Amino acid sequence: MKRLHFGAAWYPEHWPVERWAEDIRLMKEAHFTVVRLAEFAWSTLEPAEGEFRFEWLEQAIALLAQSGISVVLGTPTAAPPAWLVQTYPQSLAVDEYGRRVQFGNRCHYCVNSPDFHRAVQRIVRAMAERFGNHPHVIGWQIDNEYNRVCYCEHCQAEFQAFLRVEYGTLDELNTRWTTAYWSQTYSDWAQIPLPIGPHNPGLMLAFRRFVTRSYRNFQKLQLDELRAHLPASVWVTHNFMNWFGAFDHYALSADLDLASWDWYIGSGHHDHLRSGAAHDLVRGYKRRNFWLMETQPGHVNWSNTNNALNKMEARAMAWHAVAHGADALLYWQWRSALNGQEQYHGTLVDQSGQPRPFYEEAQLIGDEFARVSELVIDSFVQAKIAILNCYESRWAIEFQRHNNAFDYVSYLEHWYRSLSANNLEIDVISADAALEGYKLVIAPALMVLDEQRVQRLRDFVQRGGRLVLTLRTGLKDRHNALLASRPPGPLAELAGVEVEEYYSLEHPIPVEGKLFQGSASVWAERLRLLGQPFTTVMARYGACNGWLDDQPAVVVNPFGAGFVYTVGAWLEDRSQEILVRQILRNAELKPFETPPTVEARTRIRPDGTRLYFIINHSRQEQTFTLPWPVTDHLTGQEFAQGPLTLYPYAVALLTRRD
Ligand code: GLA
Ligand code: ZN
Repeated sequence: MKRLHFGAAWYPEHWPVERWAEDIRLMKEAHFTVVRLAEFAWSTLEPAEGEFRFEWLEQAIALLAQSGISVVLGTPTAAPPAWLVQTYPQSLAVDEYGRRVQFGNRCHYCVNSPDFHRAVQRIVRAMAERFGNHPHVIGWQIDNEYNRVCYCEHCQAEFQAFLRVEYGTLDELNTRWTTAYWSQTYSDWAQIPLPIGPHNPGLMLAFRRFVTRSYRNFQKLQLDELRAHLPASVWVTHNFMNWFGAFDHYALSADLDLASWDWYIGSGHHDHLRSGAAHDLVRGYKRRNFWLMETQPGHVNWSNTNNALNKMEARAMAWHAVAHGADALLYWQWRSALNGQEQYHGTLVDQSGQPRPFYEEAQLIGDEFARVSELVIDSFVQAKIAILNCYESRWAIEFQRHNNAFDYVSYLEHWYRSLSANNLEIDVISADAALEGYKLVIAPALMVLDEQRVQRLRDFVQRGGRLVLTLRTGLKDRHNALLASRPPGPLAELAGVEVEEYYSLEHPIPVEGKLFQGSASVWAERLRLLGQPFTTVMARYGACNGWLDDQPAVVVNPFGAGFVYTVGAWLEDRSQEILVRQILRNAELKPFETPPTVEARTRIRPDGTRLYFIINHSRQEQTFTLPWPVTDHLTGQEFAQGPLTLYPYAVALLTRRD
């Protein structure tokens, strides 16, 4: 049954069977509808090579089913057991320094190891045969948070084979990477190293593609085993780590049915303008609602201070996730294991088997999810604004930041924050995604271009779209080579400007225009107008290093039926907000006004009804003006148009009554 799911990761293998019924009773009282099982249980499921012990898992699923709780099964491949690495030592990864990774933690596998692949296929096949058709297993999670990059000899040989396919000939590779530089010319594929530390930019970018391909193959191996036994209604996902950057998440998501992720705050508190970007990123992997497969029950154990979330903060976070497209929320984890690496992590039930104080809040969230599940479940987020996220551009920048303070994700978040503060829905999508349906597209630091990208952006603007180009745009090709043109390269015609020079900034410099008198830091580009008739300078640099003084910093250019903005400087927050407001006005996108810590988001039901999620993300009471009379579906209360008081961390789920 489709519903808004609520639950946790549960590890029955850590506990005597006699305890399970009590755990499930407590889960039921917290309104659980789902638990995730087995994603680290390999040594319990297959204690010796080819010997499977599935009865315990079957029994756990059966007990859960009796209480109406569904199951997501994890394939346990992130935790290869001791016997496996003892028998097949090559299945252990090698780190950058050439050391075999030690057994005793997790994710110690070489993602390309043939020995490991065989073992993975065997366990996944056996699980799929046994549980693929189980009526209470509604979905599967492959592995857990892919993350390790392996530097073993086998991976090196695979990388070389990968390059051979990508480039065809060494001549081609040598040309694309300009290997004559520092005498890097390769005369044999076997000479090509795995990049450790700084390297040829072409080699480094190709290696990230190879890591992506490696995980994609590894995932495909498991998908094939699973799909051979799964009914069409049972989905397969992987729990990603939002902005983790070792591989291209779009490529990996393409093969999955559902995107999911693990959301942790670590130290400090929830910042809704940051986490909103992460949710929207994950929703963008498949351009569909997603699952929050893990989140923090109170506190974690791996951060600096591991402070607890404030009382009711997690509830605000839960609804914030739903507002951004989550269809499920699972806490990690149910109960603290007595030993093992994560003894101090927050849980719902403590080592004694009793609910922790946080359990009560979880219970409340579970109850609310259950009550509005039907209203919310088929609704979706509809955005008119897209932010393009490009792994290749990000990697190209990360390899050579030029200014250490230049962080691609922070720059993208800078745009996200200023847009999202207007309470407008935003999709964070691949730079290769279709742009139909958007009014405004932002391309933060879109460094790497190819013909299709340029064509898609051009068509978008031609049809009337508003496109925002920013700094470090259109400098490179897909081999990480500089384009033999001034940035933004093939986009210059759209922009009506080219970049004459870029300046890494040691301290803020003035940027001034009619709209704002502000400043830029980290990065500034000197724009030159190309002489198109309607190009308008919106802001110029003030006196600073001489080179930038009085030169254009922000420019807008009409193109086709649309407009292209070029923002050559990393503006400080206030000016950024003002500029964004102006761009929104031009795109006819109307902000929804709330106090800064109050978020408003919408999901739309198939019948067109809009659900408004209003969330106070602060510990202070806030008041905001309701533009229309509403019903709050969490409390059943009705409110007239006018001021609405939101207590600390309050959440309202509203529909209009007019
Ligand atoms: C990750 C893992 C979990 C657990 C949590 C702890 O997200 O997937 O198994 O270790 O971190 O925060
Ligand atoms: Zn390897």
